[in-house]
Amino acid sequence: MEGMTIIAVIGGGQIGEALVSGLVAADVNPQNIRVTNRREERGAELEERYGVVTMTDNAQAVDGADVVFLCVKPKMILDVLAEIATTVDNNSVSTVVVSMAAGINLASMEEKVSAGMPIVRVMPNTPMLVRKGMCTVTGGRFVDAEQLELVQELLTSVGDVMVVEESDLDAVTALSGSSPAYLFLVTEALIDAGVSLGLTRAAAKQLAVSAFDGAGTMLKETGREPSDLRAGVSSPAGTTVAALRELEESGIRGAFFRAAQACADRSAEMGRN
Ligand SMILES: NC(=O)c1ccc[n+]([C@@H]2O[C@H](COP(=O)([O-])OP(=O)(O)OC[C@H]3O[C@@H](n4cnc5c(N)ncnc54)[C@H](OP(=O)(O)O)[C@@H]3O)[C@@H](O)[C@H]2O)c1
Repeated sequence: MEGMTIIAVIGGGQIGEALVSGLVAADVNPQNIRVTNRREERGAELEERYGVVTMTDNAQAVDGADVVFLCVKPKMILDVLAEIATTVDNNSVSTVVVSMAAGINLASMEEKVSAGMPIVRVMPNTPMLVRKGMCTVTGGRFVDAEQLELVQELLTSVGDVMVVEESDLDAVTALSGSSPAYLFLVTEALIDAGVSLGLTRAAAKQLAVSAFDGAGTMLKETGREPSDLRAGVSSPAGTTVAALRELEESGIRGAFFRAAQACADRSAEMGRN
């Protein structure tokens, strides 16, 4: 993949490491990946684990880089942009800067740097840590098709990638950014239900987690509608419909409508501040 592409990852934390690990697994030469942290010990750890080049100087890391992934906390994004802007401007290649931070919009980032800098905004989710992430990408005003393509290709190393409009990001947060937590909660509830039926917690956990993983794989690999798959396991007057009726009467669909709305509203509110 992209033999000569130089990649800088600013902030080798959870998300930065997940990205590095995916890129290396996808055969990107680790010597073409530079990772920064303020703490040298963390850099040493990443160097040892992945064979990447680590440093503490962000400006040095982006010197000559084709792609720069900003994987620091949202509150640090604008400071880091200010720190790297001059070097990015002076690069002979047209460096594309990719922010992985929630809540910081393209306009506020573009405002922080000189006009013309290509910036991409990505909304990742945590399954990226196991290379089953869902990343959405939104190109800023100065990003060309080739750069957007390159960013998508690199992110494919940690899961699925979809191009979206920035105006959809509150909804995207509700559907993929935050949703793994809803699904963990559902799993927990099912495990507790199993314990209440007399299973050990360990057995309940194994059964619930495996069912979840299997259902997810069926959804993904068959591409069939979830309603079809559900109908397929619901025999007339059987056990499954008895359970489904309870879930419907408990208002599970309404709960998800309201949860997604609350998430999107909160995302919009945080984006304004
Ligand atoms: N949608 C989602 O589900 C989701 C999930 C996770 C993360 N994210 C986004 O991903 C971003 C990173 O989150 P995270 O969980 O990976 O955070 P994290 O684990 O705290 O990682 C941030 C890393 O950046 C380093 N760092 C901090 N300031 C720096 C600076 N000025 N220069 C260089 N390195 C610096 C920190 O190490 P040192 O202290 O050694 O510098 C740390 O390793 C956030 O913006 C977040 O919004 C989104």
